Amino acid sequence: MKIYATYNIKGGVGKTTAAVNLAHLSAADGQRTLLWDLDPQGAASFLFRIKPKVKGGGKALIRGTKTLDGAIKGTDFDHLDLLPADFTYRNMDLLLGGAGRRNTRALAQLLRPLAADYDHVFLDCPPSISLVSENVMHAADSLLVPLIPTTLSVRTLDQLTEFVAGFNGHRPEVRAFFSMVDRRKKLHQEIIHTLSAERTVVTHTTIPSLSLIERMSVERAPVTAFAPRSQAARAFRALWSELRQAPKPRDLPATPRRRPRHCRAVSQDEVRRVRTPGVARRPVLPGCRRPS
Ligand SMILES: Nc1ncnc2c1ncn2[C@@H]1O[C@H](COP(=O)(O)OP(=O)(O)OP(=O)(O)O)[C@@H](O)[C@H]1O
Ligand SMILES: [Mg+2]
Repeated sequence: MKIYATYNIKGGVGKTTAAVNLAHLSAADGQRTLLWDLDPQGAASFLFRIKPKVKGGGKALIRGTKTLDGAIKGTDFDHLDLLPADFTYRNMDLLLGGAGRRNTRALAQLLRPLAADYDHVFLDCPPSISLVSENVMHAADSLLVPLIPTTLSVRTLDQLTEFVAGFNGHRPEVRAFFSMVDRRKKLHQEIIHTLSAERTVVTHTTIPSLSLIERMSVERAPVTAFAPRSQAARAFRALWSELRQAPKPRDLPATPRRRPRHCRAVSQDEVRRVRTPGVARRPVLPGCRRPS
């Protein structure tokens, strides 16, 4: 069972859109697929026409009084199940941090018994960096990070890469992709060109900004299902195909981009090299000052 999480600290970047379409493509390939809508907004549940309600709420799932298995619903698509959102998920951090201890492995433990039932699990995460996020890091094999091509997205990717690199224990691979791309915008072109050349975690495939993708909320279905031959569906198919392959090493450009003032971007390799086994605190990374 491989666990993918669509994740970004920022909101409204295309996490749910990606989770819904990629989960549908996975199921269409014949893979037994589960999408867990972890966002109390319940957008993924809405798009699959499933009521965002779990009996007993998030509390029952976290405390184990209700199994995930018992809360899973079938969707209109073969091989694709959904674990709906519940409004009580907004309190997930409190549930995971109760009784003075921080449980960072609850989601991973809850998902483990499903390993025999599913080939792929997608976690559609709320936009935050919280105890839920730490649980997602422990549970996921792969973090899928949609980025809107703005200068801030570069910063977001660096923050996220550092957060994952400084993580003790299990670290998911990070795969970022540009979403809502408008090729007519020069700034979009420049940012995509620069970041794709510099960071091996960024996919070649980009998801264009298309009104057909926005129509998903009207059709209440993945665009890969209601318009399978559209440009939008082709883009998600290309993305899914690329994500299933290992990231390819790429050459750095001759003139690297200027880094943030105090810290240059850090590759997973560099982090591995400076990390001292058995030392829990975050390492000082090359080019970074330890915060005072
Ligand atoms: N490629 C795209 N082209 C056009 N509109 C898009 C595209 N991707 C997403 N959208 C629209 O942008 C809005 C936000 O997308 P989505 O809900 O997937 O983002 P999100 O990151 O999950 O948001 P949140 O952080 O609130 O969970 C939605 O209305 C969606 O239809
Ligand atoms: Mg969302």
